[in-house]
Amino acid sequence: MRITVIGTGYLGATHAVCMAELGHQVLGVDVEPDKVAALQAGRVPFYEPGLAELLAKHVASGQLRFTTSYQEAARFGQVHFSCVGTPQQADSHKVDLRHVDAVIESLAPWLEGPALVVGKSTVPVGTAARLAARLAELAPAGSAARLAWNPEFLREGFAVEDSLRPDRLVLGIDRDAPRADQELAEQLLREVYAPLLDARTPLVVTDFATAELVKTAANAFLATKISFINAMAEICEASGADVTQLAASLAHDGRIGGRFLRAGVGFGGGCLPKDIRGFAARAEELGVGEALSFLRDVDAINLRRRERVVDLARELCGGDVAGRRVAVWGAAFKPDSDDIRDSPALDVAMRLHRLGAEVTVFDPKAADNARKLRPELGYALDPVDAARDAEVVLHLTEWQEFRALDPRQVGAVAARPQIVDGRPDRPGAGLDADTWRAAGWTYRALG
Ligand code: UGA
Repeated sequence: MRITVIGTGYLGATHAVCMAELGHQVLGVDVEPDKVAALQAGRVPFYEPGLAELLAKHVASGQLRFTTSYQEAARFGQVHFSCVGTPQQADSHKVDLRHVDAVIESLAPWLEGPALVVGKSTVPVGTAARLAARLAELAPAGSAARLAWNPEFLREGFAVEDSLRPDRLVLGIDRDAPRADQELAEQLLREVYAPLLDARTPLVVTDFATAELVKTAANAFLATKISFINAMAEICEASGADVTQLAASLAHDGRIGGRFLRAGVGFGGGCLPKDIRGFAARAEELGVGEALSFLRDVDAINLRRRERVVDLARELCGGDVAGRRVAVWGAAFKPDSDDIRDSPALDVAMRLHRLGAEVTVFDPKAADNARKLRPELGYALDPVDAARDAEVVLHLTEWQEFRALDPRQVGAVAARPQIVDGRPDRPGAGLDADTWRAAGWTYRALG
């Protein structure tokens, strides 16, 4: 099939590449010429394991191309995926839908024949219905240009894997459209995803509102699970219990499960924090704000974890961090990503900087992004160098390479062997507390 993917950020670039991998002819569209040029040259403008290789393969074969032209996109595609960002508004908790709206405004006037526009972004419930009406209004093809909603559930760091082997596919169909149009939209999407459906990926075909909500509800649930275990971490710290063992024991109950039950400095990134805020704001607009008032606690618990790391650092520095050297390991919001949006690690680094600490950050992939956003912080080229003369080391993003470090080597350069582990309980990743303690370190973990 001929497919366009509009927006080539984390979501869109991955989707475009994976659509090519499924065998389609793909045209990626972005308003930023630099991004388009980089992708067309086979370069991914961010770090995502496995993506660069697939991009290079499909660009080289000509199966995947990029453009800045909506006109070209409209002429090329049978199906147009809208993959633009939906960040939080600068001055409220609501979702900023400017980019999503702009896709319809820019694409629709060129749609002269039948086409299916498919939203993938995370949006407040009700957005798809509004966009469908606008699309029909603007497209010369009128109602031959239809909208569907197909939320994306990929995780950064696993984006390719999640796109090619998703847990489920959700197709939101316009239930106000004539029956034949509904069937056509579903059929087109089934064709797009045929290789995944052949591999028995569960498929949910539903209405717009439910499809939009599946995504927001999933992220709200995941955020709630993390904040639940972080609330338990607060109780554990106050009572002398061990949250890692607590979580492992809870996980034996299959109804609870162990995934997303890792306590620590909490969740960040471009999705979970803004999604729970946007969801609560939307519930209020719908007159059911109370139903989601617990999400404010989920948010507050999460932000308290960052302050807790600051408190521990302060305590280990004798009550005041002003003028003290602090090493921060990690800037990305999670490992295997260079994404620093709402990163707990960077937030903690900035809080300490504002308290007068001399903060040096190390991150294997996100340092350039961090330096651009936070030039006031110091940056080191390796984790040992970051720890030089530090009174305390903070482990805040669990990159695999931190686990491989020799605590004695780090101890030889640090001013004092003190470490706060903000990402304990990471099986296979994270630090081994016993090794650090055996090497003479004061090791404090959240929870
Ligand atoms: C999240 C969801 O997991 C995806 O399913 C969803 O598609 C995506 O948002 C999105 O809306 O686009 P992502 O933001 O890439 O994916 O990252 P996660 O793996 O969910 O991690 C989010 C944050 O939670 C990270 O800061 C991570 O360190 C933290 N986390 C995760 C914990 O603190 N504890 C856990 O047990 C798990």
